[in-house]
Order: sequence, then structure tokens, then C-alpha cells
Amino acid sequence: MKISEYQNRSVQRICQHPAYNKKEFLTISIKKLFFSMALFVFVYFFSLGTVSAQKAEVSEKEFGKMPDGTIVKEYTLKNKNGMVMKCINYGTIVTVLEVPDKQGKLTDVVLGFDSLAGYLGSHPYFGATAGRVANRIANGKYTLDGKEYTLPTNDGKNTLHGGKKGFDKVFWEGTLDKLEADSSPGITFTYTSKDGEEGHPGEVKANVHYALTNSNGLQIIFTATTNHATPINLAHHGYFNLAGHNAGDILGHEVVINADEYTPTDSQFIPTGKIAPVKGTPFDFTLPKMIGKDIAKLPGDGKGNPGGYDLNYVLRKSREKLRLAAVVTEPKSGRELSIFTNQVGLQFYTGNFLDGSNKGKGGAVYKKNGGFCMETQVFPDSVNHPNFPSSILKPGETYRHIVIYEFSTKK
Ligand code: BGC
Repeated sequence: MKISEYQNRSVQRICQHPAYNKKEFLTISIKKLFFSMALFVFVYFFSLGTVSAQKAEVSEKEFGKMPDGTIVKEYTLKNKNGMVMKCINYGTIVTVLEVPDKQGKLTDVVLGFDSLAGYLGSHPYFGATAGRVANRIANGKYTLDGKEYTLPTNDGKNTLHGGKKGFDKVFWEGTLDKLEADSSPGITFTYTSKDGEEGHPGEVKANVHYALTNSNGLQIIFTATTNHATPINLAHHGYFNLAGHNAGDILGHEVVINADEYTPTDSQFIPTGKIAPVKGTPFDFTLPKMIGKDIAKLPGDGKGNPGGYDLNYVLRKSREKLRLAAVVTEPKSGRELSIFTNQVGLQFYTGNFLDGSNKGKGGAVYKKNGGFCMETQVFPDSVNHPNFPSSILKPGETYRHIVIYEFSTKK
């Protein structure tokens, strides 16, 4: 299927989503609206006859204790189709995501740990929110309004995913949404990042809202405000394996990405500042392609880079505020993941640094390419590239990042 066909599908499917706010919704034409309503009514009545509707549920329990005794809770959201998501108020980590396959069998499709100890140890951001600034900042430095800021570095000489103690390693306040009839179960996490935290200016108030939609989407809305201009780039860092979190590598997954261009980097994954076409490179996913097809053409350098996909795509512009960024299909289970977002960039990462050292859920060993990430965001190191879309949030503005990981099945 061509990406343009996905685009049409994206418009139809977005119309069924409660994800967007009213203003965004109005950008969709009346004709499409009527079409989608008709489709929705059809799907609704069809599903009445075929799916044994369950009741949405939410619950919470203790997941573990921080070294200082703070209780970390695990929240469970279940939608009316039986899809389950669990998350904790440490790093807003999504610990479990149970999604049906083409036979309706639920399997956990995200990598992670059974206990808090795993998440408190060293791990590659499994399921977490990366921030304040996800992805890399070159040399841990930037200049904003004439002032130079120096950040702690944690990735060679660069700063990655918020630095030494990013948003993935802090405690968030969690509040379950009131569950109303037929609503999507949801939870809001809040965190106040102090002025100067990890070297950045301004106090930032951040929110992460998770909801499980009736159309089997994990919908994430990140919002943030500040009292001083500061870079903000929050990203969901879930590792997916659509065959199951412990099902081996993801090389047989088929991917299509809604992008003709990417941001080339140096050997440290720092953008050169250029925007280059994917055409003629192994990075071209404009038509569906197995992840494994061209991955051997990205062998790594024997130094820091283990090879594989780890790059930022420049998503095609879209009239709709929520665009379809990518679709990933796993042929055996039939699970298909569609990613919708209002962000300009998508970091596609094929778990190249996974090396089996993390003991995962149920004793799973996550080896190289054992999961993939689709991180919607602004471009890496944008704060140092005036030609990239800006990541600066100013006082009085609200950062609002929407991403929906929507699951369906294909025969
Ligand atoms: C980055 C990788 C990095 C990984 C850490 C990804 O978002 O693109 O380069 O190694 O996060 O887990």
C-alpha cells in the first residue's frame, strides 16, 4: 500500500479519535466528517454483533519502593475491547501493553521489567518519557537569548534524553481519570522540573496523559509550560515487538514511514544540520519494507555505533494537525501499529544497543534488534540548528505533543 493511501486512511481514522482538540478537528473538511461519521456508525453496529464488549476498568496498586521509601504505584487501564496498559509513576513508564492479534489473543508487546528494581537500574529508557529534551544536544551546550548553557553529558561528550537524571528517572504525581460510561480509561501524570534542573533555565510544569481509546490506541498527550524560555522536547520511548516482548528480533516487521527526508548525523548521532532525501538509501521506507531488508547496509563502525536504524525522519507536511507518521506490521500475529502525531520528526530506532544484559519480564533476554522505538519529537539537537523547527518554549505558551500508537490487525 502506498503512503498516500495510508494518508487517506489516516484522515478517516483520525476522525474517529477523541485525541484531537476541537480546533484541530475543525481543520478536517465537512465531507470527510460525514464520511467518517457514517463509517463510525457502521463500525459501531458491526462491532456490537461481533465483539463481546467488556467494561473499561482502571485500578492502582503498589509496584515497589524507591530507596527513600517513596511508594511507586502501578496503574492498570483496560479498555472495553480488553486491551490493557500498565504504567508507573516513576518516569511515567509504560510497563505492559497487551494487544490482540488476528485471533484476538492478547500479548504484551512492550519491552520492560517485572519489578521496580529493573527500572531503577541501568536500562535504555524502556517505556519512559524522555525529557526535558529527548534525543541529543551536541557537546551538552547551547546558547539561548545570548546566554550559554552547559548541561551534564551522559552520552560521550553529548547529552542524551534529558541528561543524567531526565524525566525518565523522576517521580511523577499520578491521578486516574474519572471513568465515565463509554469513556477511554486514562491517567494524568504531573511533574515540576526546577529552574536549572539538568542545566536548563526555567521552571517547567509538565503533564503526561495516557488514555486507551476505544479504537485500541495508546493516546499520549504531553503538555508543558515554563516561566523562562527553555528547550522542550518530550518523547515516548517505548520499545515495541508486535510479536510479543520476548519474541526475538523485529527484523521481520514491515515498516512504512511518512517521510521523504531525514536529518543525517555524524558518527555520534549528532545532526550535521542538512536535510537529505531518503531515496536511494537504506533509510527509504516510503513503501512498506521489512526492517531486515536493508539493515545489513548499516553495519556500524566497530566503535560506538552498533549499526541498524537510529535516525530522525522529517515527516511529510500535512494539512491535518495529526498526521500518520508510520505503520508497522508483524505478519505472523497480524498486529499492525499506526502512529499518528502532531510532531515534525520521528526517531526510528531498532534497539541496536540492546545486548542481552537487561533481564526483562518473565526472564526475557532482550538482544540486539529485540524491539523498535518510534519516537515522535522535534529534530535532534534542534536547539543548535536555527534551520530546524524550534524546540524553544516561551512563558505564556503551552507545549502540546500528541502521539497515538493505534493497534489493529491484518489477516
Ligand atoms: C536513540 C539511540 C539511543 C537510545 C537509548 C534512542 O532514542 O536514538 O541512539 O541509544 O535512544 O536507549
